[in-house]
Amino acid sequence: MSIRLQGKTAIVTGAASGQGLATVRALVSHGAQVMAADIDDDGLSRLQEESAAVATQTCDVSNSADVEALVEAAEARFGAVHAMLNCAGYLRAASVVDTTEEMLNRIVDINLKGVFYGCKYAIPALQRAGGGSIVNWGSINSTVAEPDISVYSATKGAVLMLTKSVAIEYAKDNIRANCLCPGGVKTPMVEKFFDDELLASEEAQRQYQPLGLISPEEVASVAVFLVSEDSRKMTGTSVVVDGGYTAL
Ligand SMILES: NC(=O)c1ccc[n+]([C@@H]2O[C@H](COP(=O)([O-])OP(=O)(O)OC[C@H]3O[C@@H](n4cnc5c(N)ncnc54)[C@H](O)[C@@H]3O)[C@@H](O)[C@H]2O)c1
Repeated sequence: MSIRLQGKTAIVTGAASGQGLATVRALVSHGAQVMAADIDDDGLSRLQEESAAVATQTCDVSNSADVEALVEAAEARFGAVHAMLNCAGYLRAASVVDTTEEMLNRIVDINLKGVFYGCKYAIPALQRAGGGSIVNWGSINSTVAEPDISVYSATKGAVLMLTKSVAIEYAKDNIRANCLCPGGVKTPMVEKFFDDELLASEEAQRQYQPLGLISPEEVASVAVFLVSEDSRKMTGTSVVVDGGYTAL
């Protein structure tokens, strides 16, 4: 399969680490120009130095004005926006009873409102470009629960339905929206939740997830596919990259 993104511009949130970072690199390697956004300024500075095809902007996705300004900056810099990849996310673990209101609000603000703002402000830009692709990061927890991450899972389930809603509302404008649902990916977000034995042992990883833990690059390659014309008739669906986790 050949994937070419020459002349395409994408915005990636959560771009300073993990899957967002790997996705920026993968998009650039296929010829795209990328506006990379995060709250981590140091991470963005390092990324900026990697490629002239990357521009960066500090953006807290839970702040609607930041996200609106991000889309404006991408259009001003590159002339058009063809893809919006809402990858930024936040995970805090606690039982339902122990979840504080502050935790509840922060997780909802970043994982649900942040993705909503990304769609709301990118859609007019994608319309001006004649169409495009939105990739929203859900999770296996968009469809299956695990203990102690109730709010995180609720937001990821909501992101899947938000994605379907965007897909049916804007198909008329040739805008596609898909929800990328990874299983356990080796990134800073979850490394603290896995014990050392699991991180060190392939056998232990395969007991958790049949194909073992996933690398950020193995998710990024699917994100590139969802941006590209090779997925042109895919919209409103969940694309699960979970090493067999949900088949167990
Ligand atoms: N790692 C996993 O196992 C896993 C599994 C399923 C889904 N996910 C989802 O994948 C996405 C990427 O996570 P990751 O695994 O790469 O984690 P990560 O911690 O490596 O990266 C998350 C990035 O999001 C940024 N971020 C956090 N809050 C932000 C905000 N308010 N505004 C802008 N940026 C913000 C962080 O600074 C960081 O750079 C998240 O949406 C996460 O929920 C992760």
